Amino acid sequence: MSAARLPYGALLLEDLHADADAALQAYGQVDVERLPGSPERAELLAAVGRAEVLGIRSRTHVNGEVLDAAPDLLAVACFCIGTNQVDLEGAAQRGVPVFNAPFGNTRSVAELTLASIVMLMRGIPRKMQAIRQGVWMKSVAGASEVRGKTLGIVGYGNIGSQLSVLASGHGMHVFYMDLGPKLPHGNARAVTRLDELLEMSDVLTLHVPSTARTRGMIDARAIARMKPGSFLINHARGDLVDIDALASALDSGHLAGAAVDVFPDEPKTPSETFSSPLTRFDNVILTPHIGGSTIEAQSAIGRDAAHKLSRYLFEGSTSHAVNFPEVDPGPIAEGRHRLTCAHVNAPGFLMRLNDAVAQAGGNIASQKLETKGEVGYIVADIEGELPPNFLDQVSTIAGAVRTRLLG
Ligand code: NAI
Repeated sequence: MSAARLPYGALLLEDLHADADAALQAYGQVDVERLPGSPERAELLAAVGRAEVLGIRSRTHVNGEVLDAAPDLLAVACFCIGTNQVDLEGAAQRGVPVFNAPFGNTRSVAELTLASIVMLMRGIPRKMQAIRQGVWMKSVAGASEVRGKTLGIVGYGNIGSQLSVLASGHGMHVFYMDLGPKLPHGNARAVTRLDELLEMSDVLTLHVPSTARTRGMIDARAIARMKPGSFLINHARGDLVDIDALASALDSGHLAGAAVDVFPDEPKTPSETFSSPLTRFDNVILTPHIGGSTIEAQSAIGRDAAHKLSRYLFEGSTSHAVNFPEVDPGPIAEGRHRLTCAHVNAPGFLMRLNDAVAQAGGNIASQKLETKGEVGYIVADIEGELPPNFLDQVSTIAGAVRTRLLG
């Protein structure tokens, strides 16, 4: 059960962007407590005990022990893309939805990719390296404009399609390949086969997730099909490309260069050393997985994740939760109470809940139910006076996990 103990208290860890604080107040007042970095276990366990919502990045592990130490916890937001630092199933079973912010850094990755296309086609990486060693490589050889060149985008999702717009604006001919049909932006055109894209592209860039289908998709065979003298960009996931095959193609000159931001083995901490067969090439741009790392992306992520928390706190919306049935009930109409109820997904719960509402003298004006795995989530808007112990009554219904009364 959760009585609305207003204002709610949010615990924000890991130095989240300051814009999160204002976004948390989008639908009502939330008191914000911030702890720097990711606290030690004991400090974390003590702090979550006073939080109704928890905001983290990737370094704080929210396992069963943390969830048990937080009896009032209503929701968790990962202010990043990945959510595997949270016990998602354990949270769902305790009626705690988990949110993330998967698209806040879309623009940042697209911009870096566009910049890499320009830098590669002008031969800048080699010239930068030479000038630092005192060599004046003032030469037009191998330097091209991007205008009129063909860009092949593998994966026309958020980043791929954003890049498509930017590259078209620079006069590139954009072709893309995706699993499903995707609406082309501007003059971009879809191709159905990866091989077609490999053969036609002056620059091939990857923007797909790591899946059974995509892992190793750019192997020696695929690279051999790429246009001689073309460039490969991987700003998506490290396991999409066979790095040894890429190194061979750079050695032979079949590929003229590459830009790589993600690697099969990435250091976990800044103190670990990075090594890769690609470090010996002066025509390759290597970056330490910072495609999405900009101040603007941090702000966008802060606003996105905090906004989702605020909607959940004040409207009960679980829209875009990663572990929870999604219900988006909209604003609460004047004069209505909103009952939200996470419950065990088993037959009969809805009937028991509706009986309890009727016995309490309430009239259900609207109701939404979704289920996901073992968890169900109901949002019911109720008219009429409800007895003071109404929330106690519904939270003791067999199968109820967490009930809240809003509005
Ligand atoms: P998204 O989910 O919006 O788009 C991915 C697209 O790939 C979808 O349209 C999907 O249909 C398509 N796709 C999936 N499997 C495919 C296949 N086998 N063949 C062709 N298309 C396929 O994802 P988003 O946000 O555009 O991100 C793309 C990639 O970029 C992800 O791997 C993500 O992890 C990575 N990324 C890297 C960052 C960095 O710091 N370097 C930052 C942000 C994202």
